[in-house]
Amino acid sequence: MEQVWIKKDDILENILIEKLVFGWKGFARLKHENPDYDGRVIFVTGWAIPWTVANLRVLKKKKAFLETQIVDIIKKSDIEIEHPTNKYGMSGGWKWINIPYNEQLKIKEMQVKEALQIVEQKQPELPYLPIVGSPTIDWYRNKVEFSFGKFLSKKYDIEEHFNLGFHKQGEFSKIQDMEGCSLIDELQNEIYREIKVFSKTLGLPVYDQMRQEWFFRHLMIRRTHFANEMMLLLSFNPAYFDTNTKIDKLSKLNLIKEFLISLTKKYDIIKSIYFSHNPNKADVCIWDLELIYWEKTIKENLQGLTFNISPSSFFQTNSTWAEKLYSMVLDYAKKDELKEQTVLDLYWGTWTIWMVFAKAGAQNIISVEMVKSSSLDWEKNAKLNKLDNISFENAKVEDFLKKYLKEWKTADLLIIDPARAWMHPDALPNILKFNTKQIIYVSCNPSTLARDLWFILVNSDYKIEKIQAMDMFPHTHHIETIVSLIKE
Ligand SMILES: C[S@@+](CC[C@H](N)C(=O)[O-])C[C@H]1O[C@@H](n2cnc3c(N)ncnc32)[C@H](O)[C@@H]1O
Repeated sequence: MEQVWIKKDDILENILIEKLVFGWKGFARLKHENPDYDGRVIFVTGWAIPWTVANLRVLKKKKAFLETQIVDIIKKSDIEIEHPTNKYGMSGGWKWINIPYNEQLKIKEMQVKEALQIVEQKQPELPYLPIVGSPTIDWYRNKVEFSFGKFLSKKYDIEEHFNLGFHKQGEFSKIQDMEGCSLIDELQNEIYREIKVFSKTLGLPVYDQMRQEWFFRHLMIRRTHFANEMMLLLSFNPAYFDTNTKIDKLSKLNLIKEFLISLTKKYDIIKSIYFSHNPNKADVCIWDLELIYWEKTIKENLQGLTFNISPSSFFQTNSTWAEKLYSMVLDYAKKDELKEQTVLDLYWGTWTIWMVFAKAGAQNIISVEMVKSSSLDWEKNAKLNKLDNISFENAKVEDFLKKYLKEWKTADLLIIDPARAWMHPDALPNILKFNTKQIIYVSCNPSTLARDLWFILVNSDYKIEKIQAMDMFPHTHHIETIVSLIKE
């Protein structure tokens, strides 16, 4: 019988976390007297900071690696810094807040290079430009989603039954309360605190994600930095009242509505308030939306253009740095050729790349996006911004491409900015059929970027012209990368 060398819940002692790998896991190697197991890869969740020495609990044993969680820190990393608003060092919303910013940039740059290593088999010595950091590392987020929940922990001697904050890293059922969050500005924090205090006094419980019952679920605060408008969205489980019939649903919901609307008297920046009724298991903020105050969308101004943002619209969370991202994408295009070009902007989000290219004078620009609400009023917005060279398709990119190619339509430049998860496998082969001189690929996920670049290089004669990693999201593991691919 094979000897069991390690099993679930075993504790691995004094393990050095060597680095962070993409996502937010730590990477370490096992020390074991048996050479068959020595050096086995360990992934670490919890409070992983490079060069920390920790005791780890085994969560899962796989053939090639172990999944573990930090149980005790034996030696703090030399690079670790204190952060006043993260006293327990455990919050999931700003996982890297205890890592100095210059180190964060080094880690991100390394992670992009590691992910793209495979691509070097097709194109050695990839043309990397040095990573560009964000000019503001605090108060940069225009949108934040807090969760309601409890924090019950014998280990930390904490028993908190009504919190509003972020999930504890790696522990889904614990929500860490806070005085405020340094990723958003003081006004957003003030409103967050007021809503928390009010919700607590209402006598309704926070939603329990494990049991899938009870009431308060999320609070989303979105504030545009240049147009200076704010949207609030409160999500809750309406099914709570079905099982607690003695509580008057209408009067409770009215109290919440009245309170939220009363905030607009004090903070006239608030232009839009929604309820999100979510009885579903999915831990998401946006579900069945009810507009309870004024505007459906809020405005933002970037690059001399006006953008309307709805609750579910994608919009770059770092407004000031979004301007830089879009101007870099535009710089990568051959500007003198734009006047004669049809540009396909695949995965549109909210206007941004589309309008920036339209304003720069592209002959014709067609954007494709599957979320319908993102496209609300696009014609009105085009008129508002005096742009007549744009059109919009509400479709899945993979379906749009099939149809577009079937009609023998052509394009001269492709801009691809897919969501984090992936690009549909049907889309990539069709992208190559356009045979454009250039593709600009904007990515927020180095792993899927590597997979797609590999596919493109193997199946075509495109070459990578430049790769620029860019940090839009300080204190988080997220990285944006812009890649220009050209044909000689
Ligand atoms: C990273 S965002 C794009 C950002 C956009 N370029 C911008 O800067 O505002 C990705 C977008 O792709 C959309 N999306 C995801 N899968 C899609 C698909 N299969 N077809 C079309 N759009 C999709 C998402 O709704 C999201 O708005």
